[in-house]
Amino acid sequence: MKVDISHVGVPENDLAKKISGAESALNTLQSGQLPMTGWVRIPTRSDQEEIKRIARTAKEIQKKCELLVVVGIGGSSLGAKAVLEALGSDGKKKTDVRFAGETLDPADLRTTVDEIQAKESCLCVISKSGTTMETQIAFGILKEAMREKYRNGAADRIYTITDGKQGILREETIRHKYVSFDVPEDVGGRYSVLSTVGLLPLAVGGVDITELLGGAEVFARDGERCFDAAKYAAARICLGEHGKLVEALESFDPAMETFGRWAQQLLAESEGKEGKGIFPTILTFTRDLHSVGQFLQEGTPVVFETMVLFDKIGDDMILPKAVGDNLAGLTMKQVGDCVVKGVIAAHLNAGIPLITITMPKKTAFAMGQLIYFFELAAGISALLLEVDPFNQPGVERYKQEAWAEIKKLLLEQTPDLARTP
Ligand code: PA5
Repeated sequence: MKVDISHVGVPENDLAKKISGAESALNTLQSGQLPMTGWVRIPTRSDQEEIKRIARTAKEIQKKCELLVVVGIGGSSLGAKAVLEALGSDGKKKTDVRFAGETLDPADLRTTVDEIQAKESCLCVISKSGTTMETQIAFGILKEAMREKYRNGAADRIYTITDGKQGILREETIRHKYVSFDVPEDVGGRYSVLSTVGLLPLAVGGVDITELLGGAEVFARDGERCFDAAKYAAARICLGEHGKLVEALESFDPAMETFGRWAQQLLAESEGKEGKGIFPTILTFTRDLHSVGQFLQEGTPVVFETMVLFDKIGDDMILPKAVGDNLAGLTMKQVGDCVVKGVIAAHLNAGIPLITITMPKKTAFAMGQLIYFFELAAGISALLLEVDPFNQPGVERYKQEAWAEIKKLLLEQTPDLARTP
């Protein structure tokens, strides 16, 4: 991985001071003194027995079904979805992994119910708290579909990943004897993709989870690489202090869009509190060059760019004569490389601060490194802003308000019923 912060354009002294602060924040995260930092040690102290159990369970699921529906939202599902989309299918995949419960869209749930009816299916619900509304609704409806189809056999096809000790999902798991994994106590949702939360769906989807964890481990053990994450965090916070309050997380690879969404959640939920933080947005090029690209270059100068690039691409194509004499004979990759250089030149000329993160190739190993890089950077960024990286008080408040409205509605409809969500 190459991380280049030489084009951020902030005064050198400011950046140097921020980097030194970021280094101490990195040490604090690595010291294990802060609560909820179990994710820092996941790659170096991974529980081999648990990984074997995950791999075994994934094989069982692959044997049993063509479709695994993963129910969860935010940190409980975005990471696995991001890696699965980034790595795509190798054509040998036995079981499709589909995600549900990410919205309150009935049409999407109906489509998933139809798929469960049409295909040999398993269901995996992931929720640390067990009380997330979207997850509760989707799990309830899809569980019903599974019971209608498999009757008494449904419980053997339902898997749960939740708090090891408490919560309604843990209680239900015990009652129905579902096969289950624990979400580590000291790991929050958005930092959990390298734990059971991400590893089971990824293993079912055909991702080599040993390679993924291996990438993260190499990163975690390498002081220089961890320092790169600290430098990136320092650069972004410094940019924020100089009025660049929007970070465009960019890729030229459409399969990386959900990874952008994962990184967006990680950064925004970790640092966006107490009136602080940088707003992360996701751009996929070249598509978005033909829309917000104009704003980036000549609009209000509040944006800086973080580009994730890969030196090699998996699939290439020679452009035929039909494309036109000005391009025929070149490969798509060659054209793409010219566009990347052109975009960088134009954006630097326009004065947009730019950070690039370049990986040799998009593999499970590389994704493990990228995940760990962004996790460290998010934790460090929040500590630099002096906010708690691991809570989300705003999200909790909106949930309380929504539940209060539901209670009101239930009381209006059935005043004699006192229901608690
Ligand atoms: O990062 C987080 O903590 C959140 O995004 C949660 O993962 C998300 O709200 C889902 O929570 P739960 O796993 O409790 O259902």
